Amino acid sequence: MFKIAPSILSADFSKLAEEIIDVENGGADYIHIDVMDGHFVPNITIGPIVVEAIRPITKLPLDVHLMIQNPDQYIEAFAKAGADYISVHVEACPHLHRTIQHIKSFGVKAGVVLNPATPVEMIEHIINDVDLVLLMTVNPGFGGQSFIPSVLPKIKKVKELADKNGLNIEIEVDGGVNSKTAKLCVDAGANVLVAGSAIYNQENRRQAIEAIKQFK
Ligand code: DX5
Ligand code: ZN
Repeated sequence: MFKIAPSILSADFSKLAEEIIDVENGGADYIHIDVMDGHFVPNITIGPIVVEAIRPITKLPLDVHLMIQNPDQYIEAFAKAGADYISVHVEACPHLHRTIQHIKSFGVKAGVVLNPATPVEMIEHIINDVDLVLLMTVNPGFGGQSFIPSVLPKIKKVKELADKNGLNIEIEVDGGVNSKTAKLCVDAGANVLVAGSAIYNQENRRQAIEAIKQFK
């Protein structure tokens, strides 16, 4: 069975604790936290102090997606704030191997992220060092965008790459995931689905999560 990681980007930030508890009770597996700096992506969201505030609210692993330039400068702060996974964009990491080792040095699981236009070949050399590969199915920056189906062959390619190397890593998909596109991602080899608007724009979060899990 695949896992669901609700993205709190689409939550009501004025009652963030309740919004997190709601998806935890509704069957979420991870809490996905979108960190944006206004440089790597055209939006600004949250920093380590918010992650620190969320940490005691939930038992679920915190899956921190850094959409920032120079992530190395902030990895320690997010690790100390309680992140369980920290994922960095290959497009923002000129020294990717060093950055991945830096994340792991804090005992945090390390992920690498590819934008829709970035080929899987960019991570072949690092596949044995990561715990998670995240494939963007929208251009990062905002919730509620449409799924880009041309990313699907890349999911398959990452799955094949992981299998070829005997790796049991997480293959995560982020952007435009809903009860229809979820099936395409899982069929292609994904095992963690991030969903923001498809969950938080629904009144009943348990039903929204179930709908994705059952491909209704
Ligand atoms: C996009 C973020 C996503 C976003 C997903 O830049 O990385 O995690 O919140 O939102 P939906 O599911 O609405 O596309
Ligand atoms: Zn994300």
